Amino acid sequence: MARRRRGGAAVSVAPGGAKGPRHKAIRSRPWLRTKSVEESILDTDDPEGGLRKSLSALDLTVFGVGVIIGTGIFVLTGQVARSTAGPAVAISFAAAGVVCTLAALCYAEFASTVPVAGSAYTFAYASLGELPAWIIGWDLVLELALGCAVVAVGWSGYVRSLLESVGWNLPGWLSGTSEQSGFGFDLLACVLVLLLTAILVAGMKLSARVTSTVVAVKVGVVLLVIVAGAFFITADNYDPFVPPAQGTAESASGFAAPLIQLMSGYEPTTFGVMGIFTGAAIVFFAFIGFDVVATAAEETRNPQRDMPRGILGSLIICTVLYVAVSIVVTGMRKYTELTVDAPLADAFKAVGEPFWAGLISFGAAVGLTTVCMILLLGQSRVFFAMSRDGLLPPFFARVHPHFGTPYRSTILLGVLVAVVAGFVSLSELAELVNIGTLFAFAVVALGVIILRRTRPDLPRAFRTPLVPVLPIASVLTSLWLMLNLPSETWARFAGWMALGAVLYAVYGRRKSRLRRGEEPTPHHVP
Ligand code: ALA
Repeated sequence: MARRRRGGAAVSVAPGGAKGPRHKAIRSRPWLRTKSVEESILDTDDPEGGLRKSLSALDLTVFGVGVIIGTGIFVLTGQVARSTAGPAVAISFAAAGVVCTLAALCYAEFASTVPVAGSAYTFAYASLGELPAWIIGWDLVLELALGCAVVAVGWSGYVRSLLESVGWNLPGWLSGTSEQSGFGFDLLACVLVLLLTAILVAGMKLSARVTSTVVAVKVGVVLLVIVAGAFFITADNYDPFVPPAQGTAESASGFAAPLIQLMSGYEPTTFGVMGIFTGAAIVFFAFIGFDVVATAAEETRNPQRDMPRGILGSLIICTVLYVAVSIVVTGMRKYTELTVDAPLADAFKAVGEPFWAGLISFGAAVGLTTVCMILLLGQSRVFFAMSRDGLLPPFFARVHPHFGTPYRSTILLGVLVAVVAGFVSLSELAELVNIGTLFAFAVVALGVIILRRTRPDLPRAFRTPLVPVLPIASVLTSLWLMLNLPSETWARFAGWMALGAVLYAVYGRRKSRLRRGEEPTPHHVP
């Protein structure tokens, strides 16, 4: 593989070589420095460098469905129907699906622009520059780490529901914070994250067979809810389908109201048409994970044809399943009576079907475990990659001498995620994950437009159709959902990004290995 010394900032693959006009631009604007494609390949986490092109559209679709279905559908459906959108949560799911489809088409081009395996962070570093890469990487850590906490809390709800069916009840103060007025700690969620962290440190991986079995169990459970639940639908429960807008309670007004309502001077409300969009901004979480599919471009046999089929296929399947589940569940129970911890299983308990409820809880618990593990793995790898590039302390880039895993970043983030999963409520966490992910999608969509102009030379295994119209639509729709999130979520997100900006200014910008002109380290993470 071609290796060349990093000469200061001149490491891009700009046409015209390192001494061209881009070189001058980079010297005056160091945050534009990019890793060369060769360096990205050398640094890539994948030990095989050149991956086998073996994935078909069907493989990508199965993989996508496996990563995407999780806490979003199993838990948030009930929460959003009950407090934000009523039975119209089905429309919220459809709206979030459209936003994700637009983002997915941009993401697929971005992911296939640089022929290396990796995350959006890696692609951004090799194409857009260090600062955009930092922003996306910092954002990805938020998405993946907190996303893992959300899934762990959802898992805990279903395991508690399962335990309750056999007569074991955890004390309220160990069952999470959502319904607690005082102290609450989600013991099960915390323990799950710590266990998965230990498994990842030891380097255990999910085999393809385990993954496909879990996907089958998850989809089976979702289909079970739809088919068996359809027999218990009562038409009265759909009345009203879009509950009229109501003023929010004292606690939900002000900072807890969607930013768009505050900006427009609107009296904060829930339900009604605005409630559908507020709901869409929350259930967006249910679609997170399709971006992971886009990162498999390099391993796809015919990416131009199969990547959109795989991504859109899994998104369409999930959207249809989500809409169907929400229609069935809100038909089984009045939206005001849905529970918030394990709404799908509890709807079956409420209609006198404890056996089905137990089966659903079991399937959900199995399915959510792997989603949690994939997100945990993803966040430790992004953090590791940023440390390896010198943007975060190199202490975290050490690989375990025996297990060969990035154990320091895995343990640090695993423990933090476990604590967060223990103490923070699921909806607050999900909203923060969503705003970070939507922001990253907007940056990626803009990146597609910018790169078409600045780097037409880069190879693109997949090209987004209708550029720039489609990416602009993606930016605007992502922004719209962001505006429908609470002002306090914006404040938390601003805090996270400000922390990132300070870290980059005082550490990453100066310590970046690219800036210091160091050789890439050819170690790999198994
Ligand atoms: N989309 C995944 C879920 O709903 C992250 O849990």
